[in-house]
Amino acid sequence: MRILTAGSTTLITGASSGIGRSFAHRIAGAGGDLVLVARRAEVLEDLAAELRARHHIEVTVLPQDLNRPDGAETLVAELDAQGLRIDALINNAGLGIHGDLATAPLSSATTQIGVNVRGLTVLTALLLPGMIERGRGAIINVASTAGFQPVPHMAVYSASKAYVLTFTRALWREVRGTGVDVLALCPGATDTAFFDTAGDAAAVGNRRTPDQVVDTALRALRRGTPSVVDGGGNAVVSWLAPRLPERLAISLAERSVRP
Ligand SMILES: NC(=O)c1ccc[n+]([C@@H]2O[C@H](COP(=O)([O-])OP(=O)(O)OC[C@H]3O[C@@H](n4cnc5c(N)ncnc54)[C@H](OP(=O)(O)O)[C@@H]3O)[C@@H](O)[C@H]2O)c1
Repeated sequence: MRILTAGSTTLITGASSGIGRSFAHRIAGAGGDLVLVARRAEVLEDLAAELRARHHIEVTVLPQDLNRPDGAETLVAELDAQGLRIDALINNAGLGIHGDLATAPLSSATTQIGVNVRGLTVLTALLLPGMIERGRGAIINVASTAGFQPVPHMAVYSASKAYVLTFTRALWREVRGTGVDVLALCPGATDTAFFDTAGDAAAVGNRRTPDQVVDTALRALRRGTPSVVDGGGNAVVSWLAPRLPERLAISLAERSVRP
């Protein structure tokens, strides 16, 4: 059995939109079965119907709010109840909110941590052991180029993505030799509904397409690299940012997201 193709089941969080939706189309096109997760049940059901009709695959819809304190645990309990074995996990659900910590509502910080950090970590922790036991699997955690340097006015978002990047790179080594591949995917500005929440100020440079991001991820997964940045320009900036003097890196990042 190959991962992300016929005979395997991939769970995608944030499948209702943007990059997650593009992953769903790509994996379905390769004959892989899917479990689609996000909050908007109707959007997921419509997508599932389209993918079943077009590709003759199994698609299960499990609506879930991953910001709920037990959202990720409830989702895994539902998988168990339905006897669904997950061969690959794409932890893609996430959000970024532009605004200063001191003036933003507290829920802005807690939601970003709940979805981007807690939900992703719990799903990884609960689904990885089964993959290791079966000797095969794949986990793609969607980080961001924002994870390579602190971003003022998006402090919680950039910190949450630095977490995803560090967590996933460390995990990459922990699972060595188990048959499970782990990848941190770092998109830069990508043309999705992300900016409806983050605001256009968060859009750095030209936006790439979700399909380009998915291409980059699938190529990197085949190479077995711990992390990948989508897009040549984004890769250069992400390499450079941690090597700059601290104050310069922070002020350049601030300039890039200033309204
Ligand atoms: N677009 C960019 O420029 C960019 C750049 C770097 C990284 N990223 C990362 O890429 C990932 C995908 O984002 P996108 O650009 O594709 O944005 P998007 O189009 O806004 O998609 C976000 C997805 O996350 C889901 N989601 C949000 N909150 C959720 C919650 N509480 N529970 C469950 N699902 C939730 C949304 O579904 P529902 O609304 O239906 O719940 C949606 O499917 C995110 O992790 C984001 O941080 C994006």
